[in-house]
Order: sequence, then structure tokens, then C-alpha cells
Amino acid sequence: MSGPVVRVRDLHTRLGGVWVHRGLDLDVERGEVVALVGGSGSGKTTLLREMIGLGSATRGSVELFGCPVASSDPHAVRALRRRFGVLFQHGALFSAFTVFENIAFPLRELGVLDEDLIHELVMLKLAMVELQPRHAPLMPAELSGGMVKRVALARALALEPELLLLDEPTAGLDPDRSASFVQLVRLLHQQLGLTVVFVTHDLDTLAALATRVAVLAEHRILAQGSLEQIVAMDHPFIRNFFAPGRQRRDAPH
Ligand SMILES: Nc1ncnc2c1ncn2[C@@H]1O[C@H](COP(=O)(O)OP(=O)(O)OP(=O)(O)O)[C@@H](O)[C@H]1O
Ligand SMILES: [Mg+2]
Repeated sequence: MSGPVVRVRDLHTRLGGVWVHRGLDLDVERGEVVALVGGSGSGKTTLLREMIGLGSATRGSVELFGCPVASSDPHAVRALRRRFGVLFQHGALFSAFTVFENIAFPLRELGVLDEDLIHELVMLKLAMVELQPRHAPLMPAELSGGMVKRVALARALALEPELLLLDEPTAGLDPDRSASFVQLVRLLHQQLGLTVVFVTHDLDTLAALATRVAVLAEHRILAQGSLEQIVAMDHPFIRNFFAPGRQRRDAPH
């Protein structure tokens, strides 16, 4: 199939009496790794949610793989659900479930019943995120922050998606864990041919992953291009975001 993986047109979102998006357009092509940046409260998480059919845009359209996400046909929605994986910003694992059950969740949700198959797929995903089988029976509270992110990534990969959406995937990780998580996403992107859209405030994560940068400001995608092109732009948000010395804002102090 040709055409963009993500196509957002003239998106308008009004939340709590305030315009969040006002005429937002964005295309993401197959195989791209697009970094979405913007000030806090600019509507990045809201946009990711709308990309997967959550939340209600006031106007405009969102298509994934050429299909409207707001389709009323349950079969179409279900078919689409298999094709993307999400790591939400505060995407905590289910704290009452083991690592195994967290990763198995999307499979069970989609009606996979064969326990042997579930076991095989969960172990495969654990290995993919460089965790060991011995981690499978652990509870989320027993994991480090970096491990939680990896399990959440394994869960996002459970359905072997073509599109991966990551909201602040390295927030709260120390620089080493952050770098190794970024390395993992890079590897998965190369090996699985994934298309990735990620939100970050972290310049190191951005520089290491993004093939393109899209800036959400003034209620729309104000600018997009290579990191070099974006850095060269004269706009208050961009000047501030890329100001020297603002590195590793997400790292613990
Ligand atoms: N359910 C809601 N009801 C009312 N307002 C909302 C709701 N969800 C989000 N908002 C508002 O919409 C705006 C955009 O929120 P959003 O979470 O998308 O921002 P963000 O760019 O992801 O910010 P951050 O970088 O802090 O994560 C904010 O002003 C927020 O308060
Ligand atoms: Mg957010």
C-alpha cells in the first residue's frame, strides 16, 4: 500500500474550553522516525491519542494506513488496532499483573487463546527488548525504571505493529538507561522496518532517533524538517528548546 502511514488533516481539538489544535496537518511516511516536540501543554499527547482514535477531535480527519481512525465499523477498528503499538507518557504497567501478563495483555485482548502461542510470543518480545525469561514472573514494583520502559515497549510490540507511538519514552531515565533505550528503539526500527512517532523533551533522544522533527506550536505543526533545518529556525519556542545547556532536561538532577 502506498500513501502515508499517518495522515492528519485540519485537526481541531477543543478541550476544557480551550483550543489545543487549530488546523493541524501532519503526514508520516513509512519507515520514518518522527520526533514531535512542543511546549508542555501544547497538545502532543492529545495528538498521539487522536492518532489512534482516542479522544475526540472537534474537526478534521486522522487516517492510519489510509483508514479513518474514527471509523464506526468495529471490524475496521479491530484490524487497525493490530497495526500500531503505543507507549503512553504515564504508561505504567498494570501493577497487579506480572511482566508476562502485561506483555500478554494485548494478545488476550484480541482474543488469542492458545496459551503455548501466547507464551512463545511473550518470550520473543521479552528477548526483543533485551530482558531475560527470569524477568517474566516479576511484578512491576520489582523492576527498575529502565526495565519498566522495556516491558512497556515489549507490550507495545506484542501485536507486531508496523507503527510505534512513544510518548516521552526516556523521561525519568538516567542518561545511560536513556541511551540504551534509544539504541534499542533504533535497532527495532532497523530490524522490523517500523514507522515511529515519538514525543520527547530530551535533545539527546531526539538527535539519536529522529529522521524528521515536527514542531507543535501555535496549535499546529508550525515547522517540520531535519534537525539541522529546525535548529536554524528563528522562533521563540525553537530557540528556547535548542538552547545550549538545556540538554538532558529529563535526567534526574
Ligand atoms: N481531558 C481533558 N480535558 C480538558 N483539558 C485537557 C484534557 N486533556 C488535555 N487537556 C489540556 O489540553 C492541553 C494539551 O495537553 P497535552 O497533554 O496534549 O499536552 P502535552 O503537549 O502532551 O504536554 P506535556 O509536554 O506536558 O506532556 C493542555 O492544556 C491540557 O491541560
Ligand atoms: Mg504529554
